[in-house]
Amino acid sequence: RVDPLEDYDLSKPLKSNGLRQGLTAYGDPHFSLFLRKAFIKAAGYGEDALSRPVIGIINTGSGFNPCHANVPQLLEAVKRGVQLNGGLPIEFPTISLHESFASPTSMYLRNLLSIDTEEMIKAQPLDACIMIGGCDKTVPAQIMGGISANKPILPLVTGPMMPGSYRGIRIGACTDCRNNWAAYRAGVIDIEDIAALNDELAPTSGTCGVMGTASTMACITAALGLMPLRGASAPAVSAARLRVAEETGKNAVAAVSNALHPQTILTKESFLNAITVLQAIGGSTNGVVHLMAMVNRHPNVAGSITLDTFDEIGRKTPLLVDLKPSGDNYMSDFHNAGGMTALLQTLRPLLFLSAQTITGQSLGEVLDAAVAHDFPYSQEIIRPLSNPLYPCSSIVVLRGNLSPGGAVIKASASKDRRLLNHVGPAVVFSDTADLARRIDDSELPVTADSVLVLKGIGPIGHPGMPEAGLIPIPRKLGAAGVQDMLRLSDGRMSGTAGGTIVLHISPESIVSGSVFGVVRDGDLIKCDVENRVLHLDVSDDEIARRIAESIKDSSTKGAAKPKRGYRGLYERSVNQAEHGVDFDFLTASGPA
Ligand code: FES
Ligand code: MG
Repeated sequence: RVDPLEDYDLSKPLKSNGLRQGLTAYGDPHFSLFLRKAFIKAAGYGEDALSRPVIGIINTGSGFNPCHANVPQLLEAVKRGVQLNGGLPIEFPTISLHESFASPTSMYLRNLLSIDTEEMIKAQPLDACIMIGGCDKTVPAQIMGGISANKPILPLVTGPMMPGSYRGIRIGACTDCRNNWAAYRAGVIDIEDIAALNDELAPTSGTCGVMGTASTMACITAALGLMPLRGASAPAVSAARLRVAEETGKNAVAAVSNALHPQTILTKESFLNAITVLQAIGGSTNGVVHLMAMVNRHPNVAGSITLDTFDEIGRKTPLLVDLKPSGDNYMSDFHNAGGMTALLQTLRPLLFLSAQTITGQSLGEVLDAAVAHDFPYSQEIIRPLSNPLYPCSSIVVLRGNLSPGGAVIKASASKDRRLLNHVGPAVVFSDTADLARRIDDSELPVTADSVLVLKGIGPIGHPGMPEAGLIPIPRKLGAAGVQDMLRLSDGRMSGTAGGTIVLHISPESIVSGSVFGVVRDGDLIKCDVENRVLHLDVSDDEIARRIAESIKDSSTKGAAKPKRGYRGLYERSVNQAEHGVDFDFLTASGPA
């Protein structure tokens, strides 16, 4: 029963409905509510609607974002789910980031999206928030912001695109974009083929259809307990995706009455489960950065999980999911094999089953409810623990004098496993422009044993830590049949890429005192994945001499002029890869 007069009765305290909380303050809380209701009624809502739990729904649709092109249909299904369960859905926008259309990088803007998300969730009179997103940086940005805002949050990913086909062979964004481009560079396929392939690589709306960053983050979100398990893999264009959306609407209304705040339901164990899944799916190395950023937003978890936690979990977690780039298949195959439900059933002995989920059930209870099914439906796509695709440590953390803050390699995506234990002379590129200028120079002194080193693509260096870590094989070596080389950088790599590639070297080259910053042509570099070592074979004295020289050089050039706007804020505040490339003032250990 709605009594509209009750809201304005000055003798009674305000009720706890979101629209009624003392948000926009005009000094007098009753008057503030009176004004908010007057304005929201301009959208056509009646008293009954406004007395319901208000479920905000973030719409990240944009003409520049084909990964989110199904958002209109998802919104309709979400709203149905909210309304059927007695809530009032109210949609609002935040900025939208697509990987390919966010310059200089989408990573540069991830923290901006996370601030947008956090502040709009906090600012508006909503009781819970469904966050629709999907492309690589959107989901982590939304969860980071949502953890900080700490109202009930329900991520809903847009879902993976379907694979395409060219000349009878299945292809998909974007592992096959890279494979085919490399084949074209090496002269294996011609210009007509590469042009025709371009039409088929991304054949539907949705996120990249392999185990790239978007799929990785979708699986991680489900493993954290924030999203229905089927929500990780149901294709963007499927009816299943719409039903997940409807269910999310229902869960949101229940999350309000059960007060399921992210800082309460997410515990250290939830994140350990997510890291186990990251390792078992052969997930993107970007998942490491994003998970560290989420962890460091959470006041009760920050500090208890570090880069080394990923390595420790990796040692006991086999790679089970046979998807590109580590394996051969696509997200639609993973979905058809039982998706996250089947994977988590398989991983049961490695999981913390008491971790909570957004439905109020524990992860164990969610899995028990699904136990009647004979998962997985395909042991080729989701392998049993006894027959993994890769025995353990899909993602490995390397340390040594070259990366005191850590470095990451996706060992399972190596194309030439001999390179996982390799010593070779460095061929150094000072930045991406230098790389573009010289990599295909026929005079470049490089052999298949060389170690390609790309500096200047760290969080601050580029800025935005571009996905340029997949240094191309020099054309003359590619033409001679070389398919993989040991490559090192302080940047990132797309989750859809493969090769023996060391990433996220910290501290990045541009930081004063960085050892990586003083690597020179011809220096011997040792990478020993088995022993977790990344070593520059140069004496400590010589390293110290080079660092002193570079500090002197930069001080004679004088300090760079501070930059204006977001760029200035970014450069002043961004932390290094092992902390999540977040802004220091947004972390749980930052300012109160
Ligand atoms: Fe959006 Fe790959 S470009 S998920
Ligand atoms: Mg990507």
